[in-house]
Amino acid sequence: MIKLHDKYFKPFISAQEIETAIERLAKEIHNDIGEEIPVFVGVLNGSFMVVSDFVKKYPKPCEVTFIKLASYEGVKSTEDIQRLIGLTQDLKGRTVVILEDIIDTGNTLAEIHRIFKNEQVKALKIATLFYKPTAYKKDFKLHYVGIEIPNKFIVGYGLDYDGLGRNLPEVYQIKETQHMTNLVLFGPPGAGKGTQANFLKEKYNLVHISTGDVFRFNIKNETALGMLAKSYMDKGELVPDQVTIDMLNAEVEKNADANGFIFDGFPRTNAQAEALDILMDAKDSEISAMVALEVEDDVLVNRLLERGKTSGRADDSNESVIRNRITEYYKKTAILKDYYSTQNKYFGVDGVGSIEDITERLSKVIDTL
Ligand code: IMP
Ligand code: MG
Repeated sequence: MIKLHDKYFKPFISAQEIETAIERLAKEIHNDIGEEIPVFVGVLNGSFMVVSDFVKKYPKPCEVTFIKLASYEGVKSTEDIQRLIGLTQDLKGRTVVILEDIIDTGNTLAEIHRIFKNEQVKALKIATLFYKPTAYKKDFKLHYVGIEIPNKFIVGYGLDYDGLGRNLPEVYQIKETQHMTNLVLFGPPGAGKGTQANFLKEKYNLVHISTGDVFRFNIKNETALGMLAKSYMDKGELVPDQVTIDMLNAEVEKNADANGFIFDGFPRTNAQAEALDILMDAKDSEISAMVALEVEDDVLVNRLLERGKTSGRADDSNESVIRNRITEYYKKTAILKDYYSTQNKYFGVDGVGSIEDITERLSKVIDTL
């Protein structure tokens, strides 16, 4: 993912795909033109990269020139096209191929047709690397199209967002959901995960999704997913990941305008982590980090034994039970630590100290995401 000015963009079309499309365009155009020497007209600024790469692939002699038009403000095309540099040579009787980086509404193309109306060229052909068919509002024929794309703003390979992004060798697409902080929160029993989750949720305006709570809510309210989950539980079977994912998806949708989510109790397996990645991707977002509170076993045991004295929770009063729970925790999270580490998304945070110290450490990590 990249950020230009205030917006985020995600990888969309690779340099390799662009090269393949340009090779194909060069071949098609050469097939049609044959031995004649064409004049390729690039439309500045955006087309400088495509023109440069295109003419290198063109197998026969050709001429190259540019015109310069401007029609875009920010991420929206405007009707008002300015002619900054017009034609600087006589093209009478020549075969002219316009080389565009992108055709969006077609307003620019209309202006190009106006420019050529009285030039008495032999033929005027339009070639464009990218084309947004659902944005196109004109009837001019597009003779050669590289790659059709949906009507979403892109940058890279000559295309810019307010001046930035033209130099990128590949193309990125705007993220419609803007940046979210999505955390997968882990901590061994007694690490203070609940306390910290509450704090983070306030500070960063995140929605805390505890899988346990989500299950209890769905079962209690007898939602379709809750009943489905219960039918497995009643048989003593594991609830299939897809059911859990569907419940989480519903939570995410209920809170579509959140700044992000804290996932607590999920994922527990590689397959679940992958499913969560797919879910976030469908929301045009991603997991930002796995944050794990790290506390030494002996400290945890002492904390839980202390808590057991007052809470009366049976599982907090027996040291060997506690140690078992901690061992289980490490066994289960090791896989996820690996999963997120390979994506450079694992952050261990020292969970020993005062509540404020720990939240401070967590904030330091989150502020970098
Ligand atoms: P049209 O006049 O609406 O067809 O838009 C053509 C011009 O708008 C292009 O030459 C680009 O400069 C700009 N443009 C259109 N769509 C995009 C985009 O997705 N990213 C960056 N610039 C764009
Ligand atoms: Mg352009």
